[in-house]
Amino acid sequence: MDESHTWDSLASRYDRIIRVFDRSYPAIRRRLSEDLRGRANVLEVASGTGQFTFDIARVAKHVVATDISSKMVECLRAAAKEADTTNVEVATMSAYELDAAPSSFDAVFCANALHVMEQPRQALHEFRRVLTKNGVLVAPTFLHGADWTRRAVSRMMGLISPFVAHTRLDLESLCAMIKETGFSVERRERLPGLLPIGYVVAMRE
Ligand SMILES: C[S@@+](CC[C@H](N)C(=O)[O-])C[C@H]1O[C@@H](n2cnc3c(N)ncnc32)[C@H](O)[C@@H]1O
Repeated sequence: MDESHTWDSLASRYDRIIRVFDRSYPAIRRRLSEDLRGRANVLEVASGTGQFTFDIARVAKHVVATDISSKMVECLRAAAKEADTTNVEVATMSAYELDAAPSSFDAVFCANALHVMEQPRQALHEFRRVLTKNGVLVAPTFLHGADWTRRAVSRMMGLISPFVAHTRLDLESLCAMIKETGFSVERRERLPGLLPIGYVVAMRE
């Protein structure tokens, strides 16, 4: 299965398109700066073109930023070169099959991607595998199922745009899925927006 095709075609326009939905991105940046501060080795999954990568790099020692779309990764690699960062590594990788040893990261950050993945549970199992015991998962995720209005918006978007939610999550179902895959949810918050974002911090059990 290859989920990269749509995202490859969006990569060069993604920064502009996401502005419609990014009302809570500054709030995510503030929160992740506290939640990932001082972490030694952070794996970012589905990094896109780097909406949060450099914020993570400012507070963590080392970041491996990954995405299934090689075009997204190309954009991010160019941005990292431009920013002259020394602690960001970039790689094309599927969340379902992370090219990483067990217990090799003390944090995983995955923003706005669990809802578009066809197998979000498989991704969460992989996050758990590569995390150290008591490692942290930070997973802000668009809530396409937050209420009936958002479900309608989401259905419409699925018809007229490439932004298709595979799972229309609300905060409850997002947290339930994370718990089911071997995490304890430490904090959860709904951030506002055209599509709200569930900001979840969970520990590997
Ligand atoms: C909505 S964008 C989010 C990008 C960025 N993290 C943000 O918050 O704006 C979803 C991203 O998930 C990536 N993605 C989709 N399925 C994936 C998978 N199975 N493994 C890794 N990345 C995936 C896409 O390539 C895309 O860059």
